[in-house]
Amino acid sequence: MHEGVWSTVLGLFSLMTIAVLILPLSKRVKVPYTVLLALVGIIIGFLHGLLGITATDVGLHSQLFNSFQSFDLTSEIIFFVFLPVLIFEASLAIDVRKLLSDIRPILFLAVIGLFISTFLIGGAVYAVSGMGFVVCLLLGAILSATDPVAVVAIFKDLGAPKRLAILVEGESLFNDATAIVLFTILAAMIAGTAEADLVGGGITFLKVFVGGIVVGFVMAHVFSWVISKVKGIALVEVSLTISLAYLAFLFAEHYLHVSGVMAVVTAALVIGSHGRTSISGHGWELLQETWETLGFWANSLIFVLVGIAVPTILSLFGSDMWLTLGTILVVGFGARALLTHGILPVLSATGMCPPVNLGFRTVMWWGGLRGAVSLALALAFFENEAISQEKQDFVIVLVCAFVLFTLFVNATTVGKVMQAFGLDKLSKNDLAIRDRTVERALSEVAESIPAIAENNVVYGEVADQAVSGYGDRLKAIKASIEKQDPIDDDGWLKMGLLSVIGQERKHYLNDYSKGYVDPSSSKDLLSVADDILDSVKASGVQGYVTASEASLEFDWRFRIAMQLHRRLGLVGPLRNQLSNRWTRLRTTLAALTRIKKVGINDIQSLIDDKVSLLLVEFIDNRILRTEAALNALRAQYPGYANKVQTLHLDRIMLNQELSKYSDLYKDAIISTEIYTSLASAIGAREEASLVQPELDLGLDKLELVASVPLFEGVEKDKLRSIADLLKPQLIVPSEILCKAGEPGDCMYFISSGAIAVQTDGAPIILGSGDFFGEIALLKNAPRTATVVAESFCEVLILQSSDFAKLLSDNQAMKETIEKVAEQRMSN
Ligand code: CMP
Repeated sequence: MHEGVWSTVLGLFSLMTIAVLILPLSKRVKVPYTVLLALVGIIIGFLHGLLGITATDVGLHSQLFNSFQSFDLTSEIIFFVFLPVLIFEASLAIDVRKLLSDIRPILFLAVIGLFISTFLIGGAVYAVSGMGFVVCLLLGAILSATDPVAVVAIFKDLGAPKRLAILVEGESLFNDATAIVLFTILAAMIAGTAEADLVGGGITFLKVFVGGIVVGFVMAHVFSWVISKVKGIALVEVSLTISLAYLAFLFAEHYLHVSGVMAVVTAALVIGSHGRTSISGHGWELLQETWETLGFWANSLIFVLVGIAVPTILSLFGSDMWLTLGTILVVGFGARALLTHGILPVLSATGMCPPVNLGFRTVMWWGGLRGAVSLALALAFFENEAISQEKQDFVIVLVCAFVLFTLFVNATTVGKVMQAFGLDKLSKNDLAIRDRTVERALSEVAESIPAIAENNVVYGEVADQAVSGYGDRLKAIKASIEKQDPIDDDGWLKMGLLSVIGQERKHYLNDYSKGYVDPSSSKDLLSVADDILDSVKASGVQGYVTASEASLEFDWRFRIAMQLHRRLGLVGPLRNQLSNRWTRLRTTLAALTRIKKVGINDIQSLIDDKVSLLLVEFIDNRILRTEAALNALRAQYPGYANKVQTLHLDRIMLNQELSKYSDLYKDAIISTEIYTSLASAIGAREEASLVQPELDLGLDKLELVASVPLFEGVEKDKLRSIADLLKPQLIVPSEILCKAGEPGDCMYFISSGAIAVQTDGAPIILGSGDFFGEIALLKNAPRTATVVAESFCEVLILQSSDFAKLLSDNQAMKETIEKVAEQRMSN
């Protein structure tokens, strides 16, 4: 074997062994994992120098140290080996829907915020260091890229609002990309390969940023398509996503010179959302586990390797650098404070991002660690031969010192900051629930002890002792409950609602794992449940009402699908949206019904009696609204509704049948052969039930025209020419069709559904066969009333330019329309 290979294997896996074993250690000594990793790395680096080991020494320990040292951590290794894994893993879990709905504040913080921080740090360093301005700016850019991993992990532990976690995660992923692009532009200026040009720099920035997104988007779609072709072979599916992460980065960065980070972020987002539907259920579980493992390896190794390199880098630290380092620390944290405590509240005040309390903001500020990306950039600068040694040393030493500071000072004390704000404690409400849970469990266990003792031949006196032990604990917990500050009704209700949402999530996950709900709908359902959860946390009971109502509305994806249908005649997206809506409404209704029937009992024993009745009322209300939305859809597409219901029931029955066989098999009543044969027969039937029926939008023009009485009796040829002038359209409930006082350029014939004309008195309901919007065209005047859809409707639209033609060709029709209009105006 070639000598280098065994040495690499020795070094890599010894390091890996050390690194992963640090995780249990870090849990025991309660020091952040990454801090310990870096510490061990630094010790290894020092020992190597201390022991005076040379490259030619033999003996296992010398070979081991030499193999560690041979991992020359270059910027290319960080970029091409570590970053794709770390970024893909971090982005995979992000909910695209949530990311997009908060994209403005995220981009603001990640792009504008990074620029502000770059200029502040750069300017301050320039003032004290005597280095060139561009080098100082470059240092500022490198030091402004925050590493999200630590804060996100902390937020997760704290149960921080999901929206906030997305904001922080999104900010740090995007600001990595921004920093890299800015770095590349500035480094080229320093190396003399590019001119200092603000406009040109701006354009390059946009090109590289957007270019990366395009590369990631296209490649992820191609890979998703390939994955959909190998559906069912989980190993292949997962392996393909790993190739995607690396190839997307490589193509973007190396061949197309656009942002590799953005390419990987986008690719992971596409796989995590759209691509998810092409991956099998089992494949998805394996994919998550695999990526988690890969991310863990990459994180572990990179921190030890960075640690090993530290002694060498810090040996370049000159005494004249203290002032600059001090400046960087003050301005660096000052700039971050400006973002978290200055800009974020402004964004919240303008409604662009969720309100973030002072505690969270301070954690965001102090937890803004710098990590792998900052070091990789500094190393890339260090390796650039076109740049003078002095500048190289200046940048790498300061970056290294700053990263170490954030690691050893911030990461180890961020827990204290959380304590200071009480973020690590259970809230008063959580404490109350905890004590009640314990009370219930203890009394149930105590009651069951005699029976357990009898069944397990335990002597009576031993059992009695146990009962009295439980009795004492029960007394203590009751006393603690009595001492607690009373919680008001709203507090109890809020807790009850949080528990309801928790159960709702559990039902969605369960339905997904049983194959009753497709992956993309379940992701939507979970994400809506998270929205409601955030909203309850932020605004209590009112938040529940608002968010659960919002969940029934047609979201931006539906609106886009509708516009694609109306403007470009594309049917597919609208059809998908409608059938997804059906699945979501049905699943929500089923979950709520189950909670009302069963789950509510568990909650009721933990919260106040009076309040639990109110809670039931809230659930009932939501059930009613969801049912109404589902019925509206069913009324519009009864055939489709019946077909999907039948398939759904089939699937449930098949699952039940299978679980019966599996019980018999587990009890050894039927043999493996019989069970396998039964299971495969069910598998075949299940496959058939997975074929979703197509939703027919039912917008056939001639059929719609035939359903309007006004066109009855018109001969066939003429009907065809009338139909040519009309445009069929699907209208969704609550959609506004005319607004009083606005100009009108078309009129509507209703083929199916109902609309409400809002007049001064009670609204006037018009239904199938009626028409409206004629007055504005006849009188050439603004709309006389607002018209809103009451249900799903199919309408035929006649543009004002065709209105005169239709009327002049059809005298009888003209008279009818004019007569109706006169009558309406006189009302
Ligand atoms: P237009 O004024 O173009 O836009 C609003 C429409 O509401 C109007 O045309 C009529 O078609 C309809 N409308 C207005 N008032 C009444 C009414 N009293 N009864 C029924 N329909 C009405």
